[in-house]
Amino acid sequence: MNKTQIQLYKLKYFVLLVIMPLALLLFSCSQEMKTIKPGEIWPDNNGVHINAHGGGILIDNGVYYWFGEHKVEGKKGNQARVGVHCYSSENLVDWKDESIALKVSDDPESPITVGSVIERPKVIYNPKTKKYVMWFHLELKGMGYSAAKTGVATSDKISGPYTFIEAVNPNAETWPLHFPDELKTKSYPEDIKEWSDEWIQAVKDGMFVQRDFVKGQMARDMALYVDDDGKAYHIHASEENLTLHISELNEDYTGFTGKYIRVQPTGHNEAPALFKHNNKYYMVTSGCTGWAPNAARLLVADSILGDWEYIKNPCIGDDMDLTFYSQSTYILPVPGYKNALIFMADRWTPENAIDGRYIWLPVQFDENGTPYLEWMDEWSMDFFKK
Ligand code: GAL
Repeated sequence: MNKTQIQLYKLKYFVLLVIMPLALLLFSCSQEMKTIKPGEIWPDNNGVHINAHGGGILIDNGVYYWFGEHKVEGKKGNQARVGVHCYSSENLVDWKDESIALKVSDDPESPITVGSVIERPKVIYNPKTKKYVMWFHLELKGMGYSAAKTGVATSDKISGPYTFIEAVNPNAETWPLHFPDELKTKSYPEDIKEWSDEWIQAVKDGMFVQRDFVKGQMARDMALYVDDDGKAYHIHASEENLTLHISELNEDYTGFTGKYIRVQPTGHNEAPALFKHNNKYYMVTSGCTGWAPNAARLLVADSILGDWEYIKNPCIGDDMDLTFYSQSTYILPVPGYKNALIFMADRWTPENAIDGRYIWLPVQFDENGTPYLEWMDEWSMDFFKK
């Protein structure tokens, strides 16, 4: 062996015995580091806290796209100043800023003008039209929360730009499914006292459905759900936030078919997030206390337009009655694992909206198969391998 051969020999063993194990160690450490830390600052690829509140996720070609409200600093940061922000990720931990998917308009006449309220955007893909369809809760500028509309925008590309189509009060001139004929013409006293027995019965009987029959129903906190048969549904808090409506969307997903149900009249549910498990439909909702957290609710149904029943508060442990200081926004099924679902919620910070945090927790199932949520300071996708 000459000198060069000896050196090469040494180098080979150095790489094999030192460099390779070191690289492997570093690689496994970096994999272990990929954890979700609910409630902490979550930096994107630029080191900036992710700005996608009240959001939802769409998976496209194996990549996760997170859409949410872009908030700005201060109290007014809850108004739409920028638009709907989009991020992408391949592992659900590292997120790349994909910029603003739907921009607010500079035109003061536009329903999505700067200073309007754009909340809880969700995006689904329509294979027939090959369009990405975004829906969001829209409040018109200067009108508080009284417009209660839902807006729709589409794009050919998942990350946008999305083109705003319109904002509506859904299901105008249409009665909900199973709505009794005699209630369509029932009259109610004008001075009926809120929360009196008479008032509660009137709301149950559809007093607000009747009031809004011509102009269309109220639509505030919202979610979208695409079922296995490709039918899409728009779920929204309606009737002054007292009753949820689940409405079927048309084939293009850009409008309503007029088929809709009322869920838990007077139940005061908002922030709906749906998922399917063992052929049952589940929905996590919150009560209605604005930005302040309250106890989540778990509802179940055998079919999406069927009877929804309240099961229980899905949270357990400390702060279970405040949903761990958060409010539901979306439940993401994670492909590649069995029964892997992530509960996504917002910890709102209304005094400085941009600082809102994300509470992501795995959905767990008890021995009866009932979903529940438990606080974790830190967890990784390995949790689903158990
Ligand atoms: C919450 C709702 C949020 C936002 C807020 C405004 O109840 O879930 O999306 O609308 O009220 O106060």
